[in-house]
Amino acid sequence: MSQNDPQPVPEGVDLERPNPARIYDWYLGGTTNWAIDREFGAKAVETFPMVRTLARVGREYLGRGVHYLAQQGITQFLDLGSGVPTVGNVHEIADAVNPDSRTVYVDNEPVAVAHSRVLLEKQGDLNRHAVLHGDLRNVEDIWERAMDTGVLNPHKPIGLIAVGVLYFFGPDDDPHGVITRYRDLLPAGSYFMSSHMTIDGVPLEGEDKREEVRRQYERSSSRLFVRSKEEFARFFTGFELVDPGVVWIPHWRPDEYPSPANEEYLDQPAASSAFAALGQKV
Ligand SMILES: C[S@@+](CC[C@H](N)C(=O)[O-])C[C@H]1O[C@@H](n2cnc3c(N)ncnc32)[C@H](O)[C@@H]1O
Repeated sequence: MSQNDPQPVPEGVDLERPNPARIYDWYLGGTTNWAIDREFGAKAVETFPMVRTLARVGREYLGRGVHYLAQQGITQFLDLGSGVPTVGNVHEIADAVNPDSRTVYVDNEPVAVAHSRVLLEKQGDLNRHAVLHGDLRNVEDIWERAMDTGVLNPHKPIGLIAVGVLYFFGPDDDPHGVITRYRDLLPAGSYFMSSHMTIDGVPLEGEDKREEVRRQYERSSSRLFVRSKEEFARFFTGFELVDPGVVWIPHWRPDEYPSPANEEYLDQPAASSAFAALGQKV
């Protein structure tokens, strides 16, 4: 811990290596990060300055998607790879539309879970909000534990969220199979929303810098796996895509919810290097 790290380190938290959840929090302007994460983040920003705005663009998509679902009458959310609570949390956006909304967060990073728990205890409603520590790849276990919280009703539509997380999984993790298993568990009328990093169609300018950032991540606790538009679209097999379908993140319903960082990318959407989509289980 450095002098700039006054906060106590929750039990089980690895400070030997920078961590993606905490680096991401730093990109977004949050406070749940340590010197090792900030040093990593600063290096990534130095290599590829857009990385910080891009994190905000990704987070704003989460806000737009949740707002859209809440407007469709979805009152239950299961947020996989939810991260540390930071700017624009799912339960806050959902509650603002429907004060009876229910949200279960899932993350495998102890810091994210510890901070989510503290936030929910202070500002949430423990009858309607919960957080689980677990690996989202253990589908049946996560599903069972999420339902055991009593927060979600398995017979009512659920908004399943996997935003900014599927690119941590390589072919050996079978991420498509993982999402299919969640899809099969979701009640009819549920939705799935996701976003994914890509190099497909991204302007070549700056690619060497992006590649360098990916290499830097390989030295952290997680590798990154980019996917093509087709590979991303395949996650939505069995879901009916909501308009505008699979698009660059900035073009996914840009007016749905306030998205200041997104505005900068509306006329250069491919520079976001990420796709977004949302579909309904039919
Ligand atoms: C880039 S953050 C995205 C956070 C949030 N979804 C958002 O869009 O703002 C990715 C999160 O996924 C979590 N994560 C990575 N692999 C995971 C796994 N196997 N199971 C659960 N969470 C995971 C990380 O710990 C991190 O908090």
